[in-house]
Amino acid sequence: MTESAGSGADAVRSVMDLTYGLWRSQTLYAGVELGVFDAVGEEPTPASDIAEDLDLDPDQSYRLLRALDSLDLLDEREGREFTLTPEGTLLRSDHPASLSGVVEIVNSPDFVTPWNQIPDFVREGGPTPFEREHGEGLFERTSEDPEFAELFNSGMSSLTQVQSEAILQVLADYDFESVSHVCDVAGGRGYMLCKLLAEFPHLEGTVLDLPSTEGLVAPKLGVEDRCTLVGGDMFESVPEADRYTLKHVLHDWGDDEYVQILSTVRESAPDDARVLIIEPVVGPNGGDFPKLYDMYMMSSVEGRVRTDDEHADLLAEAGWERVSTRADDSGMVTVIEVEKAREE
Ligand SMILES: C[S@@+](CC[C@H](N)C(=O)[O-])C[C@H]1O[C@@H](n2cnc3c(N)ncnc32)[C@H](O)[C@@H]1O
Repeated sequence: MTESAGSGADAVRSVMDLTYGLWRSQTLYAGVELGVFDAVGEEPTPASDIAEDLDLDPDQSYRLLRALDSLDLLDEREGREFTLTPEGTLLRSDHPASLSGVVEIVNSPDFVTPWNQIPDFVREGGPTPFEREHGEGLFERTSEDPEFAELFNSGMSSLTQVQSEAILQVLADYDFESVSHVCDVAGGRGYMLCKLLAEFPHLEGTVLDLPSTEGLVAPKLGVEDRCTLVGGDMFESVPEADRYTLKHVLHDWGDDEYVQILSTVRESAPDDARVLIIEPVVGPNGGDFPKLYDMYMMSSVEGRVRTDDEHADLLAEAGWERVSTRADDSGMVTVIEVEKAREE
């Protein structure tokens, strides 16, 4: 290849931009982890006050604050004083739609170090990058380590909070009026289901998740009288309901487990029940998000982000067939609705 191939200024800038990605996300993570966004007041706050409040080294913390300003998360004024930008406000832990949990679940060392194992994993296959790094799988870890489970469950809840608006929009024309009981299988702390119950007051809901999962968000959304959290194993059985949701679940698992989960749901589900599978799908639309989300899956679990056809094949194996697919333009939300396949 000649030296000039691909060496235009734009191509170089684009590669360098990708290279710097880690610098940005880790600067953001350091700000969240240290509580910087909670320490900046409504009035411009001197860097020295922030350092004292958070018990930080004044010299080093000023460097971090200055970098957060360059990312438009803080605004630096005369005399080393800082205010929050609208983006920085979203990183306060007391913001009702705080993104701090999302930042943690993507950027904390437990989730970042497995990425270093990806080249070996791609060369050799075998244990997932997360297992290579931590010696056990992600869900073994959440079951055994309460501190890690808190990081994971609150991060997922925060991510789901961000996604719920988009999911409800994609489902805006969905007929929930004829549904009475929704079971969210592996629903975590139940943010999405509780949001749905808040939107449709006639619905009852059950969240099934691992027994170690606690902290149903129902009281926060005012639906505690209609929503229950049940501890269990989706590979064994699921509660009976007329709609099931599986949001960001199947992409955690290999093909055999995918079929097993949907077979279990099929056994418990009444004949006219349907399942809404909600997760990114690799397809012609949706830009780079599903493919990069797939790399995040590669780093942490045995599953993958699948194409529509891959879903259709596995669904057929588990005795389900597709009724409809709805998607937004961003590639973040696709909803595949399925019903029991009719016996031939
Ligand atoms: C990626 S999270 C998705 C959580 C939730 N659906 C959401 O989108 O916020 C996967 C969930 O699967 C749950 N899970 C893993 N293994 C499970 C099992 N065998 N039975 C039930 N839930 C399980 C985890 O505890 C976790 O809450």
